[in-house]
Amino acid sequence: MLLIAALGLAACDSADRAHSHPDAAPTPGEGAPAAQTGDHVPGLHSLMMELQHRHATLWFAGDAENWPLADYFLHELEELLEDIETLHPTYDGVPVAELLTEMTLPAVHRLEAAVDAADRAGFGIAYDELTTACNACHIASDRGAIVMQRPTSPPLTNLRYIPGSGNRDP
Ligand code: HEC
Repeated sequence: MLLIAALGLAACDSADRAHSHPDAAPTPGEGAPAAQTGDHVPGLHSLMMELQHRHATLWFAGDAENWPLADYFLHELEELLEDIETLHPTYDGVPVAELLTEMTLPAVHRLEAAVDAADRAGFGIAYDELTTACNACHIASDRGAIVMQRPTSPPLTNLRYIPGSGNRDP
């Protein structure tokens, strides 16, 4: 939400364009909002690294059948996808917004259904569909060298994935 608010404010000030962070600068002529937003818009690669983190934590929450935590991470992932779509509708010639909607949304909706139904098998299938969508978009974006997979260990070990161990129920 903050990003979107910043976008709205900064978009009014085209004088800020000259000070755009290099990370946020798209190919000239593409008219991406990121070009108009000054220093506050993270570049697509930073948002992708955050997406990578959420993709990993989502896996461990679902794998442990910690459905409240999986639900939380799935919503964070969805919000991040929306931010990416808003902040970088196109990037380096890649129609990001269009590809995101086409490729990731069906898998995200299936993940939602699996998490709501506490369906571990369905979660695994939908998770792999999401990962396939990440990779399909990397290929479509000429970034085919970036291949995502199911993670094999959590990115950080200070977050507890075991269900029933939440703060509500110490
Ligand atoms: C809209 C197409 C698209 C989708 C969908 C997509 N990516 Fe990306 N991703 C890109 C592009 C384009 C780059 C390269 C960005 C750059 O060149 O700075 C990238 C880069 C990355 C990187 C490298 C970041 C870095 O610089 O270290 C990671 C990791 C990544 N994506 C993860 C994911 C994950 C995980 C998903 C799925 C949940 C995903 N991506 C979905 C287009 C996409």
